[in-house]
Amino acid sequence: MKNSFITTTQDTHKILCVIGARPNFMKIAPIMTEIKNSDQPLEVKLVHTGQHYDAAMNHQFFTDLGIPAPEINLEVGSASHAVQTAEIMRRFEPVLDQEQPSAILVVGDVNSTIACALVAAKKEIPVIHVEAGLRSFDRAMPEEINRVLTDQISDLLFTTERTARDNLLREGIADERIHFVGNVMIDTLYHNLEHAIPAPQTFQQVGAGPRFTGMKGSYAVLTLHRPSNVDHSDTLTSLLETVVEVSRQIPIAFPLHPRTRAKIEQFQLEQLLQQADILILPPMGYLQILGLMRDARFFLTDSGGIQEETTALGVPCFTLRHNTERQITVDEGTNTIVGQDRQKILDAVRDVFETGGKSGNIPEYWDGRAAQRILAHMRTWLTTKAGKEL
Ligand code: UD1
Repeated sequence: MKNSFITTTQDTHKILCVIGARPNFMKIAPIMTEIKNSDQPLEVKLVHTGQHYDAAMNHQFFTDLGIPAPEINLEVGSASHAVQTAEIMRRFEPVLDQEQPSAILVVGDVNSTIACALVAAKKEIPVIHVEAGLRSFDRAMPEEINRVLTDQISDLLFTTERTARDNLLREGIADERIHFVGNVMIDTLYHNLEHAIPAPQTFQQVGAGPRFTGMKGSYAVLTLHRPSNVDHSDTLTSLLETVVEVSRQIPIAFPLHPRTRAKIEQFQLEQLLQQADILILPPMGYLQILGLMRDARFFLTDSGGIQEETTALGVPCFTLRHNTERQITVDEGTNTIVGQDRQKILDAVRDVFETGGKSGNIPEYWDGRAAQRILAHMRTWLTTKAGKEL
């Protein structure tokens, strides 16, 4: 039956797709579209945990990406890791009791991912994990804990790069559960690239100064939100001082995550930024950041997704962390790990001006068809192995 998106028949499998935080939205969009267009009798319901809730962190993405409004919103909001995770679990359990899905599908590595996976696994409801097997090997990162634990309790694991399978096998996960499908975030990128909002338009809208023409290669972009970079005054101050130095060579657009904005205010660093050619922006919608990404000279970031998106676009990316779980972006793409070290950052930037920086290659299966592959595997899985057990 075509377009069986919300149709239920006796043979229909119901999948609950879970989202919670900004990077989840880009990953769920192509999966929702594939399910909607599938001739498999699948009923899908979208559950939003409410981990991210501000319009700029949330609603704008639904509009930009054409994601249907979630049927269920748990409205958990912000809290400590323990409270947020516990609250998601507490509110998700009755949803599973009510909906009795054939499986739940979770994406990425945020608190919503592990919280919902854990509730489902304890109820013996199969868990499908999209973006499985990535490892930074840094347990100080909350996301690393979320990744390892989610993978352990998942029944079907979809990976974005081949080394993820090795990581999973090393952790004792059965080979037949793992499928290399490519990167759904890159599906979204290719699908939306022609609709990206051009950088000059974004800069004009906010009344940016004359150096921010938005011409291709004329600006760089900074994003920062990791607790390890923004929660400590010394680290954040030193990073921003380095960025101020870089901004003497090229203007820098700096969309501010709410956590980072709060820390800049708390540590009274506003003045440092006001002196420089740094354009503070609110959190960007997807089509806006895509436009900025496409034409930037380079990115300075601690985001996971941006490391991948810049690789897909061939834009040099300097990752302000000591490691990455997305190693393929370093080995094959445009990513360089620079940590928080002033000299390393300045050297990397100089290299872009002297040589153009890394141009990289597009990794295998980052071809815009990852969601299609996911659906094909899910179809087989639901009608055979999982189908028998359900
Ligand atoms: C979360 C994810 C991180 C992801 C990031 C993308 C976890 C552990 N972390 O980090 O992996 O890269 O999302 O943005 O799940 N806030 C708002 N409005 C919002 C959301 C958050 O003001 O809509 C503020 C609150 O002060 C909150 C803080 O940002 O305490 C942090 O939000 P939280 O969801 O806990 O983590 P992120 O830093 O956004």
